[in-house]
Amino acid sequence: MARSVAPPHVLNISDLRRLAKRRLPRVVFDYIDGGADTEITLRDNVKAYEELTFRPRGAVAIPSTDLKTTILGAQLDLPFILAPVGSTRLFYPNGEVLAARAAGKAGTAYVLSTLSGTPMEQVRAATNGPAWYQVYLCGGRDASVKMLKRAKAAGFTALVVTIDTGVPGLRERDLRNGIKELLGRGISGLPYLGQMITRPAWIAGMLADGGLMKFPNVLLPSGPMPYADVGKTLEESVVCWDDLSWIRDLWDGKIVVKGVHTAEDAERVVAEGADALVVSNHGGRQLDGVPGSIRSLPEVVSAVGNRIEVLVDGGIRNGGDVVKALALGARGVLVGRAYAYGLSAAGEPGVTRAIEILRAGIVRTMKLLGVASVREINRSYIDVPAGWLPGDTRN
Ligand SMILES: Cc1cc2nc3c(=O)[nH]c(=O)nc-3n(C[C@H](O)[C@H](O)[C@H](O)COP(=O)(O)O)c2cc1C
Repeated sequence: MARSVAPPHVLNISDLRRLAKRRLPRVVFDYIDGGADTEITLRDNVKAYEELTFRPRGAVAIPSTDLKTTILGAQLDLPFILAPVGSTRLFYPNGEVLAARAAGKAGTAYVLSTLSGTPMEQVRAATNGPAWYQVYLCGGRDASVKMLKRAKAAGFTALVVTIDTGVPGLRERDLRNGIKELLGRGISGLPYLGQMITRPAWIAGMLADGGLMKFPNVLLPSGPMPYADVGKTLEESVVCWDDLSWIRDLWDGKIVVKGVHTAEDAERVVAEGADALVVSNHGGRQLDGVPGSIRSLPEVVSAVGNRIEVLVDGGIRNGGDVVKALALGARGVLVGRAYAYGLSAAGEPGVTRAIEILRAGIVRTMKLLGVASVREINRSYIDVPAGWLPGDTRN
């Protein structure tokens, strides 16, 4: 383990966040850390987990715990996977490759964002675990057909179709810090050079990594999509329900729909023939004012039943949060910032450390709860606040 992320220096995800803040210029740190508008949803993603409390069984010896599970038919050693995170290469040179490799070594899946800075073939080759591809239909259906064929040929086994990004959320920190200038014109275009000067290691890495001004997996007629075009392109290519059936016809692998909040949308996802869904508010980066995603999970689980797998993401910062999500009926969870902070702090060892913090936290929580296998975790291990469960009339 790299010394910089070893215990007792780094004991939890907040420690990795602190190191990330120290290594990154503010414009990049805030891009990861921030959310939309007044960040109500960003905060509630974390706060909602604090409202769920455990109901442990005492006097139970759990000599070993089993964290293995299957998600979308893939055998995983952990009940969490790495969420799609765009522009990862801005956090650390070769970021997508390093994160994918760390996921594979830990026995879990990696989801590559459409908005990534590394050719998808290189990322797929970096991991010996499952790799899934997150889809935005940038450039419309023609460009997307080519992208999906490429993903299939590269060996991505599932598509994660994100349905909550019809327009990018208003991330005020990004606007104030000048992220658009950074992404559009490179380091030299940044209006606030002061924040860069104090981050020489990040600048050196960024320059050595080649500047990152394009998305090599979005091939428009003019070539790879430039960073500057992201907002416009997303607005022009909103993923709608008829796109889902179009994707279903085109893609013979698994399909996950990410960005579900309600029973109604969950029903629609099932009807469209998806294999799984993710209850997600995009880490509080899109519509501010929706509840912390774990609050929406019971409604969706109750609507879907066993018909397809239900995953959740948003606000997971420790192993106990993962256990709570499983107890509320999630098949597994996705983690975004938890690993993005690790990557930003220290590259691959940072991602490995983030994964290890979560894994060890799940094991410890299970032993203290008195449950031996993640498949045995159920509602009886938590107390759910009044009003969270459908049909609950306690409040
Ligand atoms: C910096 C950053 C970039 C993201 N980029 C994408 C993306 O390109 N596509 C996507 O579907 N979700 C994206 N997300 C959302 C994550 O997949 C995930 O839903 C979210 O991070 C979960 O919340 P958490 O960060 O609290 O774990 C991004 C999240 C972050 C923090």
